[in-house]
Amino acid sequence: MEAILATDILGGISKNGIIPWKSKEDMNFFYNKTVNNVVVMGRKTYYSLPDKYRPLKNRLNIVLTSDRDKYLDEEYRYNNVLFISDINLIYNLVFCKIIKSLLFKIIFVV
Ligand SMILES: NC(=O)c1ccc[n+]([C@@H]2O[C@H](COP(=O)([O-])OP(=O)(O)OC[C@H]3O[C@@H](n4cnc5c(N)ncnc54)[C@H](OP(=O)(O)O)[C@@H]3O)[C@@H](O)[C@H]2O)c1
Repeated sequence: MEAILATDILGGISKNGIIPWKSKEDMNFFYNKTVNNVVVMGRKTYYSLPDKYRPLKNRLNIVLTSDRDKYLDEEYRYNNVLFISDINLIYNLVFCKIIKSLLFKIIFVV
């Protein structure tokens, strides 16, 4: 499992629920690193992504929440997002997906 994040010069990663800067270079780096892999994130990070980028394409999005039933519609709508309440399930879920697709290799915490 690996972690990937962007910070400002003081180590800040977020302001008022969003990343308060735009960088095409950062976005390309993030895409190239995580494409065809698994990205694990909190529910707030997932919903902080702009609609058109959510779920992150060409990646399996795993989203942590204490109330997964609330997000079942989102799971039905897309085939690359799963909401989970037990962090220990991540390896099991990813293992099943690997068996099915032989695609995902690295789990990124974003
Ligand atoms: N700069 C960067 O690289 C970077 C990267 C990622 C995120 N961000 C920013 O970070 C901000 C969001 O971070 P955040 O820390 O406020 O929120 P977050 O971690 O994205 O989401 C928190 C939510 O995740 C769920 N959660 C977290 N741990 C869990 C666990 N062990 N079991 C079950 N559910 C769990 C809970 O959802 P429920 O309330 O639904 O139970 C919790 O309220 C956003 O502004 C985003 O833009 C920045």
